[in-house]
Amino acid sequence: MEEYHKIHREILQWFSLNAREFPWRYDSPDSYHVLISEYMLQQTQTSRIAERFPIFLAQYPDINALSKANNQDMIIAWQGLGYNNRALRLRDCARTIVEEYGGNIPNEYADLVRLPGIGPYTASAILSFAHRKDIAVIDVNIRRIYSRMNGCSHPDDMSTKTVTDFAEKIFPRGNSSEWHQAMMDIGAQFCKANAVYCALCPLQDVCASAFQVMMKKNNTKKREPSHRDIPNRIWRGKTIEFLRHSNNYASDVAIVLHELIGNTIDDSDLVWFTKIIVPALQKDRLINHDVQTDVISLAHE
Ligand code: ADE
Repeated sequence: MEEYHKIHREILQWFSLNAREFPWRYDSPDSYHVLISEYMLQQTQTSRIAERFPIFLAQYPDINALSKANNQDMIIAWQGLGYNNRALRLRDCARTIVEEYGGNIPNEYADLVRLPGIGPYTASAILSFAHRKDIAVIDVNIRRIYSRMNGCSHPDDMSTKTVTDFAEKIFPRGNSSEWHQAMMDIGAQFCKANAVYCALCPLQDVCASAFQVMMKKNNTKKREPSHRDIPNRIWRGKTIEFLRHSNNYASDVAIVLHELIGNTIDDSDLVWFTKIIVPALQKDRLINHDVQTDVISLAHE
């Protein structure tokens, strides 16, 4: 640990002067606020969350209020926050916390990772940022920084075990929260996946890749299931967005499809929509489909 004294001091000092300001960042943050912000940040950019987080909190100020939300309330409140099924998982998570932990957000890793929608990253972020535990936090950005610090310009070049061991060793005990949030700020501003600004980076003196980061071309991008060259994931989001603004949050399948596709609509669109999109949204508990009337609506409960 001794070997890292200097960099600890420098990074903590740098963070105290340069931390990005976000509504979830303040001294001793409430664990509910950390849970909500980290849940949201799993999938959507910080700037969007910074905008939506206060609005969401005004509607659901605490875990009890959140646990009582029905599906439709949640889907509507999740507007602009990405994958809609995560809204329901967050509410399910709140319900489990209220029912099994008396509304107190658990402070043990094993309890956190069994909650809906909480994986290793979010569990450790909650322990570090809310409960101030001495725990290593690793997300894709931190993994990239640690890999580069160790001379691997591409995160996949460093094994998970090596990254985890390094993560365990490097963070300053007592300041896990500040250290890891500093890493997030560095990853977002100077040590990005496709661009680096080593001259501005407070880690440059201890980084084996400083000024010589090799960017790997990402030509292994997975092709997602798509329709008309747009991923089904986007079509599902557009469908929910349309229902959010429809009368009674419901609409005829034919009307939704026409809204999505426009005048070039044909039979294959209808087959795709009813066989793929509608069942996927039903499986995610986001919509109900009345087969008699062929109306879809935002799910209630
Ligand atoms: N991404 C995930 N958690 C974050 C945090 N606490 N601050 C900034 N970016 C983040």
